[in-house]
Amino acid sequence: MPVSGAAERASARIARIPAGKPRNSGCRHMGKFFVTTPIYYVNDVPHIGHAYTTIGADVVSRFHRQKGDEVFFLTGTDEHGNKVEMAATERGITPREHADQMVTRFKEVVRKVNATNDFFIRTTDPQHEAYVQRFIQKVYDAGDIYESSYSGLYCSACEAYYTEENLVDGLCPDHGTAPTFMEEKNYFFKLADYQDRLRQHYLAHPDFVRPRHRYNEALSFIEQGLDDISISRATLKWGIPVPWDASQVIYVWVDALINYASALSYAVGQDLTTRLWPPTYHLMAQDILKFHGIIWPALLMSAGYELPEHLFIHGYLKLGGEKMSKTRGNVMDPFPLIEQYGADPFRFYCLREVNFGQDGVVGEDSFKARYNAELANELGNLMSRTASMIGKYRAGVVPAAPVGESPLAEEAAAVAAVVEKALGDFDLSGGLEAIWTFVRRLNRFVEERAPWKQAKAGEDAALDHTLWNLAEGLRFLAVVLHSFIPATSAEMMSRLGMEPDAAAVAWERAAWGLLPAGGAVTAGAPLFPRIDV
Ligand code: MSP
Repeated sequence: MPVSGAAERASARIARIPAGKPRNSGCRHMGKFFVTTPIYYVNDVPHIGHAYTTIGADVVSRFHRQKGDEVFFLTGTDEHGNKVEMAATERGITPREHADQMVTRFKEVVRKVNATNDFFIRTTDPQHEAYVQRFIQKVYDAGDIYESSYSGLYCSACEAYYTEENLVDGLCPDHGTAPTFMEEKNYFFKLADYQDRLRQHYLAHPDFVRPRHRYNEALSFIEQGLDDISISRATLKWGIPVPWDASQVIYVWVDALINYASALSYAVGQDLTTRLWPPTYHLMAQDILKFHGIIWPALLMSAGYELPEHLFIHGYLKLGGEKMSKTRGNVMDPFPLIEQYGADPFRFYCLREVNFGQDGVVGEDSFKARYNAELANELGNLMSRTASMIGKYRAGVVPAAPVGESPLAEEAAAVAAVVEKALGDFDLSGGLEAIWTFVRRLNRFVEERAPWKQAKAGEDAALDHTLWNLAEGLRFLAVVLHSFIPATSAEMMSRLGMEPDAAAVAWERAAWGLLPAGGAVTAGAPLFPRIDV
């Protein structure tokens, strides 16, 4: 791993300069930001798709922390239901044993991608189970649950019923597998009764679901008419018992959705609900939009909760032409790439290769190509040339900031504004694109100024000006890149002689002119050693 642990190593190495006061510091309003990922099924091992959502949530969480907001980032695992029970049976172990083994893999992904989640919920946590029972009891007490029998075609991978019309050639549209016929006496939730209220909510909150085409999809689904849904299972054992009828368990999707509320009640040993509810963003791919955009808000309305502010729906990462899925057996394992190249290149690749919000194809070849072209040749090279020139021409000390306007100040301010807006809108790829125009601008700046010529000609003031601007450009990049590639950002700060702490990457420091003179610059190994292809 090229940059992991670099901040720690660096602390023993060089003279440090505290971040100091930013020019534009002032009183700011602190907000709250509660973001969630789906809780992932533990029926099988994690793949790159799960890592992707977690990375997206981490980038916005880090960004909001940079802005001084109170952030709560929740992720976890969905451990009940038919799918998990079947996976355990196949392995000849209990669902609990199976879940206990699998959850370590999912926790490992979170750690490996360097995600800063505030809690990891498991739906087998006893506090969650008790909360789900209290929640569903409220829905029952509101008169929204009744008993009836149900028969239909069931996709166990989706844990959902399908009508003939919704199948593609008789197969599940999402998993390509044949559904099985199921007949049961179940408890039903009166979803149809919520159709109007849901529609009104969508109309009053045009940014409830983002991006826009996903909002339209969900709204049109509501407008086509909603049926009541079965919310319990009689034949399944692996789930949370229905509080008023212990012979049935609560439908896994209802159990799972409630995690977003239950987690706040016990994550930190004190109930955070009043402080943090409702969620600012639920993040997910389009496969589970209907559950989050229709069933979840209806359940919340019934139980008397405020609705989430937004759902953001990103696209599918595809391998070849198809959505990756465990059921289809075409998954890409994120671990080898992360092991070999580090979390940052992986995070960078996922967000840069595929427009966040659209589907896109990923693969190892394009990972390596982008790594070499952009991380090694553009960012890494910019860092090495700057550090080595300051080493060579200024004995490794940041020269004094030049008097007067910098040719880069205006562009940096524009980039910071675009990135701030983009990250606020979950346009993670747009944010990276804006940052990369500045990386390229700085590389052009080196060519234009040709500091080696300035040195040769003895143009001391001009050379100071060039070198300070480059170092300041890198410091600025370290701030705006922090949420995307945090370890690299810390390493860049260290190499510029700055303490790579939270103060150094506070968002107000995404401004021009804050690099102090006198810092000890170190060259070090390449940030991103080239990959031989
Ligand atoms: N357990 C349910 C979610 C319950 S949330 C209350 C579930 N689990 S899942 O393991 O199948 O995860 C689905 C989610 O994983 C997607 O919505 C998305 O966030 C992520 N992804 C899974 N495969 C993906 C891709 N191929 N591409 C992008 N994201 C993917 O559904």
